[in-house]
Amino acid sequence: MLKENNMLFSPMKIGNRTAQNRFVAQPMEGNDAINGKVSQRCIDRYTKLAKGNWGVIVIEALTVSDDALARKNQMIINRENLPGFKTLVSEMRKADPNVIILFQITHSGRKSGKDFSRPTALYDPAPHEHLLTTEEIDEIQRKFVEVSLLSEEAGADGVDFKMCHGYFGCELLRPANQRDDKWGGSFENRTRFLTESVKEIKSRLKSDDFIIGSRISYWEGIKGGCGTKSADDALEDLTEMDEVIKLMVKLGCDYVNVSAGIPGLTSEITRPTNPSKYFYLHQFRYARHAKSLVGNNMKVFGSAYSVLKEEGITLAEENLQRGDTDFVGWGRQTLADPLFPKRVANDEKVDYCKVCSGCSRLMIKQEKVECIIYPSVKK
Ligand SMILES: Cc1cc2nc3c(=O)[nH]c(=O)nc-3n(C[C@H](O)[C@H](O)[C@H](O)COP(=O)(O)O)c2cc1C
Repeated sequence: MLKENNMLFSPMKIGNRTAQNRFVAQPMEGNDAINGKVSQRCIDRYTKLAKGNWGVIVIEALTVSDDALARKNQMIINRENLPGFKTLVSEMRKADPNVIILFQITHSGRKSGKDFSRPTALYDPAPHEHLLTTEEIDEIQRKFVEVSLLSEEAGADGVDFKMCHGYFGCELLRPANQRDDKWGGSFENRTRFLTESVKEIKSRLKSDDFIIGSRISYWEGIKGGCGTKSADDALEDLTEMDEVIKLMVKLGCDYVNVSAGIPGLTSEITRPTNPSKYFYLHQFRYARHAKSLVGNNMKVFGSAYSVLKEEGITLAEENLQRGDTDFVGWGRQTLADPLFPKRVANDEKVDYCKVCSGCSRLMIKQEKVECIIYPSVKK
């Protein structure tokens, strides 16, 4: 594909910043930190990715809490670990000074690993789960704010609130969240975390250019999940998630990263595999729907293009041309070929993701994540 006349390679504003193109490297957990700190392998992975000239790189889920990790070697973001994040950002900028770097911040909630008490915001904890108290959620919120400010200090261009894929942020949003305190029940209470955190972060940031956005699961595919109309209904009804997106616009968020499903539960919705390839159409529909709500007030990132392999580039361009999305995100493809955008731009051979789920299996086994066909870290 030639760069000229293609929207994929055209710059686009996000907040006060401009991305060099529309390629988004979606967050992909590597499970290779050392005691929560950024390791040399983390730096190598992201430096390699930055060499690919992506418009935006979303650094994988960084947990704000060391007592609820999804992966045993997940990166933990806090003041103590800040030097590692500063190095990570500066090495990436050496590889590509123009890339926009976002930190995805998370708390794993019910999806915490088995060595943890699986703290959940929901009101139906299983015996091995711990129901978070009002004060504990207050504390998680304080950490999300603190860590967002630390991300600015580390040199990141912005933060992504992980409110998707069944993690803590997502638990809060669900109609199934019928807590009887300020964090549950009404729509206002279920979105309080997002509203209050974004307002406070914005009031304390050093720069107006710092980007704030969030990744959501438009429809989770479970009873009472995001994208349903009530706690006892599983069918898709986007009315309430539309309100979440409109709220994000009102709060001055710069983008919404549209995803869907819950890995491990409704995985095919999140990351379609070859037999369920056409699930990508749901993700396209959600991005189009979000874009129709936000106009130019907020940017939309689309997800789940890897299953399309070579065809992904053509469909991405078509979606951009139609105005169905502003940015196009690849997840598994970033592992198969971190240099993907650069290779497409230069008409070079691309290593396309085979959608074998090898990377997901490594993640589930709590091993270091990589592409098992094209292990790029060693390339
Ligand atoms: C190994 C692996 C790790 C992932 N880590 C994250 C993550 O940290 N944060 C997140 O929001 N999504 C994560 N995802 C989901 C991807 O970002 C992406 O949404 C999904 O793979 C679908 O996109 P794709 O079809 O382009 O791969 C992960 C997926 C895989 C397979």
